[in-house]
Amino acid sequence: MIHSALINVMVKAARRAGRSLKRDLGEIENLQVSLKGPANFVSAADRRAEQMLYDDLTKARPGYGFLGEEGGTREGTDKSNTWIVDPLDGTTNFLHGIPQFAISIGLQREGTMIAGVIYNPGNEELYIAERGKGAFLNDTRLRVAARKNLEDCVIACGLPHIGRGDHELARREMAELQPRVAGLRRFGAASLDMAFVAAGRLDGYWERNLQPWDVAAGIIIVREAGGTVSGIEGGDTALETGNVVCGNEIIQRELVKILKPLG
Ligand code: IPD
Ligand code: CA
Ligand code: CA
Ligand code: CA
Repeated sequence: MIHSALINVMVKAARRAGRSLKRDLGEIENLQVSLKGPANFVSAADRRAEQMLYDDLTKARPGYGFLGEEGGTREGTDKSNTWIVDPLDGTTNFLHGIPQFAISIGLQREGTMIAGVIYNPGNEELYIAERGKGAFLNDTRLRVAARKNLEDCVIACGLPHIGRGDHELARREMAELQPRVAGLRRFGAASLDMAFVAAGRLDGYWERNLQPWDVAAGIIIVREAGGTVSGIEGGDTALETGNVVCGNEIIQRELVKILKPLG
């Protein structure tokens, strides 16, 4: 598969940070783990991977801005381009040895997501998309699932943990959805939830209170796989609001119809 120079930069950076995460996964018991808030874990693995991504991406594209979960905003001289990076999405899974975590790299240009790479170093699944060029899982072109009826669909969600989000609202959302779908899932890594929608493994996904680095790469990957991504109110606001709904056009619309009135 031949990709652009830009995608090659992103993939190379993701693979190097992925090797670092794999080394750290082998020594979870020795990792320094701290809490940013209740049940909000961060480890040396997150920080090490982010530093590598920062080094590689800014070396390859000097001047681009960089927004990372652990380091925050680092402005560049080029105000049009910003990397939006989650060095380890699914830290809780990682720290439990659950192989559902990923590196997520998005590139925003003039306010629009134009490229995304999501890489799970555990199973080496690499999701790639660039605007206008389609989405891929390794070498296979991706297309969102075609199911039209919610009752045939497997839908994933995200749930707030202790100390964060509106737990009562999350319960109401699940109570509404659970009897109307073929299956409801909670995997624990937002970027991979979106990648699974792009791959047609999941028919839809929603979550509230996310951060830009959780969804940036996923937005372009789902869109390039022919899917629709929105905020919970239905507009193009997932990146700004941190509330996300996605699926094929029909399922995304159905989900918005159910979720929007709830909160
Ligand atoms: C978390 C994961 C999780 C989602 C959380 C995120 P992190 O990211 O994406 O699935 O439910 O809200 O914060 O902290 O593991 O990078
Ligand atoms: Ca985190
Ligand atoms: Ca994350
Ligand atoms: Ca993270």
